[in-house]
Amino acid sequence: MKVAVLGAKIIGGTLARKWARAGHDVMFGVRSVDNPETRALAQELGAAVGSVGEAIAFGEVVVFAIPGQAMSETIQAHAAALDGKIVIDAANRMGGGAMNSAAEFGAHAPGAQVYRAFNSLGWENFENPMFGDLQADLFYCGPAGAGQEKVEALIGAVGLRPVCVGDLRQVGLVDAIGSLWFALAFGQGMGRHLAFKVLTRQA
Ligand SMILES: NC(=O)c1ccc[n+]([C@@H]2O[C@H](COP(=O)([O-])OP(=O)(O)OC[C@H]3O[C@@H](n4cnc5c(N)ncnc54)[C@H](OP(=O)(O)O)[C@@H]3O)[C@@H](O)[C@H]2O)c1
Repeated sequence: MKVAVLGAKIIGGTLARKWARAGHDVMFGVRSVDNPETRALAQELGAAVGSVGEAIAFGEVVVFAIPGQAMSETIQAHAAALDGKIVIDAANRMGGGAMNSAAEFGAHAPGAQVYRAFNSLGWENFENPMFGDLQADLFYCGPAGAGQEKVEALIGAVGLRPVCVGDLRQVGLVDAIGSLWFALAFGQGMGRHLAFKVLTRQA
């Protein structure tokens, strides 16, 4: 799969590492294409580096792993190019109000298939999603169909079990899992290597 990863530091780097190892073609989309750290990471992973626009053009899936406060500007600047793309919004807007950018995508890039994923756990759980023999779940939401299969494949490649909670109307629920993670990891001092598991009688 061709995956554009916008942002190449903690989240972008951690996810890209997993996807490159799983055989996916990754291109980082960054502001400074000559950043030596980004270049070194890309070389290590066999990934490409380009501008945000170049990466969006490259990716069938575009993953937003940039600061929440950069989301509006980035979506608006690349709205036309996002048409028809599978978008994964991993960015959290921390200033109050909605943490996701679903409304912004809907307003400016209505032709994008938007999924909310990788926002609700700290990066440590993407790097290592196993707790003994137990595999952590990742809650996500977005439209059913071919895009969903690709998003689930990317979640699986990180080592997490995908758990869909519905279409994008459930984005607040996925964000609430993120709020729960913050409350437990920091508020209750349980630490960042913390994740969730749904228990059922089915496999
Ligand atoms: N850290 C976590 O555990 C975690 C977990 C889940 C979700 N998230 C979310 O994931 C996103 C990234 O978090 P992070 O921890 O990876 O942050 P980070 O380490 O600070 O990395 C942010 C990346 O975004 C790039 N960037 C900043 N402004 C940009 C812009 N205007 N256009 C394009 N790229 C830009 C930065 O590049 P420069 O070098 O150019 O600044 C950097 O590569 C945030 O929205 C965060 O809420 C984080």
